[in-house]
Amino acid sequence: MITPEQKLLVQSTWAQVVPIADTAAALFYNRLFEIDPSLRALFTSDIKEQGAKLMTMIGVAVRGLDRLDEIVPAVQALGRRHVGYGVKDEHYATVASALLWTLEKGLGEAYTPPVAEAWTVTYTLLADVMKDASRQPA
Ligand code: HEM
Repeated sequence: MITPEQKLLVQSTWAQVVPIADTAAALFYNRLFEIDPSLRALFTSDIKEQGAKLMTMIGVAVRGLDRLDEIVPAVQALGRRHVGYGVKDEHYATVASALLWTLEKGLGEAYTPPVAEAWTVTYTLLADVMKDASRQPA
């Protein structure tokens, strides 16, 4: 579970990333493909466009932290679509590590241990819903 303090930390730090979303997306994909070059082949559409979609979706999730039950169906559908993209359960940990690294670079000093913990909880919540849904028929 995520605490109210963690929600606030995620929401306030995300607001600091939004103005540098393009840079953050580029940092994220560079890092992701550095950690696991084999993932590059899964991304067939334009990486800039893909980065924008990813940032939008994280933004939706961050705003949705106040009413998680409302966004669960959309996150489940996202998880099911990821099966079609060739995404496997183990890839979620790789994406987590690239995302946290990106936040660290993007936030600088604002990336404190409680912020890291709050983002880990948030990402794990989303990833668990996506992974569970990918194992269930719609
Ligand atoms: C919390 C976790 C994640 C979020 C919020 C997320 C978000 C998104 C969004 C919004 C899209 C756009 C297409 C759509 O809406 O169906 C997308 C596509 C995609 N995602 Fe994710 N994703 C996550 C995890 C992952 C993971 C773990 C991988 C594994 C490498 C991955 C790989 C991809 C690929 C390959 C595509 C399609 C790219 C293309 O069409 O070229 N995603 N993701």
